[in-house]
Amino acid sequence: MDLRDEAREAKEAAEKEIKSSKTLADLEASRVKYLGRKGALTLLLRKLAKVDPAERREVGGLLNTIKDQITSEVEAREETLKQAAYSTALTEEALDISLPGRKARIGRLHPTLAVMDQLVDIFVGMGFTPVEGLEVETEYNNFDALNFPPWHPSRDEHDSFYVDSGHVLRTHTSPAQIRVMKSQPPPVRVIVPGRCHRRDTPDASHLVSFYQIEGLFVDYEVSMADLKGTLAAFAREFFGPETLVRFRPHFFPFTEPSAELDISCLVCGGKGCRLCKNSGWLEVLGCGMVHPNVFDHVGYDSYSVTGFAFGMGVERLAMLRYGISDIRLLYENDMRFLNQF
Ligand code: PHE
Repeated sequence: MDLRDEAREAKEAAEKEIKSSKTLADLEASRVKYLGRKGALTLLLRKLAKVDPAERREVGGLLNTIKDQITSEVEAREETLKQAAYSTALTEEALDISLPGRKARIGRLHPTLAVMDQLVDIFVGMGFTPVEGLEVETEYNNFDALNFPPWHPSRDEHDSFYVDSGHVLRTHTSPAQIRVMKSQPPPVRVIVPGRCHRRDTPDASHLVSFYQIEGLFVDYEVSMADLKGTLAAFAREFFGPETLVRFRPHFFPFTEPSAELDISCLVCGGKGCRLCKNSGWLEVLGCGMVHPNVFDHVGYDSYSVTGFAFGMGVERLAMLRYGISDIRLLYENDMRFLNQF
């Protein structure tokens, strides 16, 4: 067959294929088939050398024209296919910006930590500096330096968590008193918020891990009146200005005298109800004047310095403040509960 006829046939076939190609990959396959290195047109062009020199010019011209035509048809089809893919993408990936967005849930402080912040703020307002103690303490700081006798039950492995012999998960924040006083001379005015651990069986008012805030004020003329004034001011600030306080004698090894602070019942105001078990009072915290033996342990002159200390359970204060009846509710991670604070 004449080269010219072959070329025209190839052109027809190529045009059909190009027009019917549905994807860019199809189109590329057709391009290679006709215009590639081993493509139909390329092979025809190679045969040009064998054509009679008199006709070569004309035949060559025709082959090149056809090659150009196929090339521009490929380009045109490519443009069409790309446009089609683009509009499909536009509809398929369309974003309906009129749809209301999904609200991101914003976290917040856990009620225990929120109350801890409030408590710390009140004491900072009275000139106390917040400091941190250690959660794993020496048995010496947690007990001995605080004047606990060797036979005291909380020193027993059945009542406290020992990490190894000599180290215990602090059972209260009071060992921070020892660290602070050993690190600086008087005066001292600090509060220590932190986590404590005891081998208690959890019930409505006990947990194995809980938070305390310790307070310590040491100077040369600190009296029990300062203790009472400071804690009464604190109680009125935290529970409300109408709150009454009373100091009930108690015992702690590291304070003498020791007391517990009660407030007038938040529900009945003192008349007697279920919450206060008809006593009219609610127990809030432990406190007292720093025992001279504690001053001796930290190297303070127990004949000239005096001071007071107090310690409160943060969960207990949160429960009183918000009327929570069971301490375990705080740590069940139930959003229906936590969202109320
Ligand atoms: N550490 C005591 C307790 O956990 C509380 C306390 C602190 C009492 C400071 C007096 C002075 O029960």
